[in-house]
Amino acid sequence: MEKERKHLQELYTLASGYQISSVLFEALRLGIFSAIGERSVSLKALAERVKVSETALKRFLGVLQALGLIEHSGNRYGNARLAGKYLSQHSMTYCGDLFIHNETLMRPWSQLHQCLKKGSMLTPPGSVLKRYPQQLRRYLLSMHAAGRIKSALISRAVPMKNYHCMLDVGGGMGTYAAAFSQINKNLSATVYDLQPVVPHAKRYIRHCGLEARVHVVAGECLAEPFPAEPYDLVFISNVLHMYAAAEVRKLIKKAAKTLVKKGTLLIHDYIAGTGNPVAVALFDMTMLVGTPAGRCHEQEELGRWMLSAGLSDIKTAEVGGGSSIIFGTRKK
Ligand SMILES: C[S@@+](CC[C@H](N)C(=O)[O-])C[C@H]1O[C@@H](n2cnc3c(N)ncnc32)[C@H](O)[C@@H]1O
Repeated sequence: MEKERKHLQELYTLASGYQISSVLFEALRLGIFSAIGERSVSLKALAERVKVSETALKRFLGVLQALGLIEHSGNRYGNARLAGKYLSQHSMTYCGDLFIHNETLMRPWSQLHQCLKKGSMLTPPGSVLKRYPQQLRRYLLSMHAAGRIKSALISRAVPMKNYHCMLDVGGGMGTYAAAFSQINKNLSATVYDLQPVVPHAKRYIRHCGLEARVHVVAGECLAEPFPAEPYDLVFISNVLHMYAAAEVRKLIKKAAKTLVKKGTLLIHDYIAGTGNPVAVALFDMTMLVGTPAGRCHEQEELGRWMLSAGLSDIKTAEVGGGSSIIFGTRKK
């Protein structure tokens, strides 16, 4: 009987995943964790702060408590450690934007059935394309939220102190270029991304006071040449999964060519065959429903493409949250 109960619970947990994410998205949208902050608050005060019905909020907080995100004592509610550290905007390590972005994926995910039939994503309606500027900002903020944490994890696996000149291909807001340049004061970096992203990156680099060492250049990394300069580090983070194998091979070759001898190509991505298998497999489905030809490329094939581009000493390491790095050195 115990076994059946356990099996049923496992299946029930799988089937109610969307309900858990709906609760998390709503809590973030209402700003519950930020409204609670570092101290505990009464139910009444919290309901006033987030402007919802007190009785409904009590029930809603019950779910957050059951999920281990909120603590409750008497009539007062406080953030549990995890929520206080990552989901309250008062925390230095806030990354709620990352999860708010996940909510925008619900629309393409709702088309999973049609995408499985068709074998690729459906054409998005015009209304989605119209919201592009707001979506781009939200998207970049979510990448930034993850990047602030993951840049520290990556620089532990690949020490930044040895590099002088870095190219960050599809660098987004410049989160990694800025973080690595803050670690190594002798590093100068070029963030290379599509034109609409450039103002966002420039703003962030200015905010960090790094304009003298971190430059932002607009361009399309597949069709246009990289900003000319040999680099001793080319970083490609969360870009390759958007493209099919032929483009990825081309990009790896191009990146390897721009490196000086003994320079490093460092790829950060959701890589099949390494990292949390559930996170990677789900990410692969996100690429199926959300990109024309993207997917999580295999660790083995990425390694092979790097070798054939003239790189050697290929290594892989897990970063966290599903993503990993694979990196190699240019031989000559
Ligand atoms: C998922 S975001 C990753 C941002 C950042 N590298 C990170 O890991 O947080 C992908 C970035 O690649 C850029 N990108 C995608 N295709 C590109 C292309 N063909 N040329 C230049 N940039 C591209 C996008 O504009 C976006 O900023």
